[in-house]
Amino acid sequence: MATEELLRVLVLHGPNLNLLGQREPEIYGRTTLADIDASLMALGRELGLAVETFQSNHEGELVSKIQQARGRYAALLINAGAYTHTSVAILDAILATGLPVVEVHLSNLYKREEFRHHSYIARAAVGQICGFGADSYLLGLRAAVGILKKT
Ligand code: DQA
Repeated sequence: MATEELLRVLVLHGPNLNLLGQREPEIYGRTTLADIDASLMALGRELGLAVETFQSNHEGELVSKIQQARGRYAALLINAGAYTHTSVAILDAILATGLPVVEVHLSNLYKREEFRHHSYIARAAVGQICGFGADSYLLGLRAAVGILKKT
């Protein structure tokens, strides 16, 4: 199937996720962001999706990317990192796109500090997957396919 016929899914990675592999490996594991992106693309091909990925340490860049997603992608998969717990701007951008969103996290937020228990993204997401390390992203992509098949 040609890429233009495939459903497009945008995967967004927030701040500090570029450091995966070196950053607190006891919490986030040793898998790098490049490895995660490669496995998402491979799974995307298996599932008949065109997966694109984008990482930024800047809230405004993430907001702009989410705004531009409208009409270009069928769904969003997002790990907003620390912005999960702080960013009304990212929440509003997601609400404005009207796209289905799956929220993912490597770590289990609910086993961690209290301030990580609240997610602004969760208000706009179809659902949240957390605690499975890099596999959270792959589970999230499968969840996105499930959502798209029903719409
Ligand atoms: C994270 C959890 C956040 O609390 C943290 O700020 C991150 C990563 C995760 O994937 O487990 O940067 O989103």
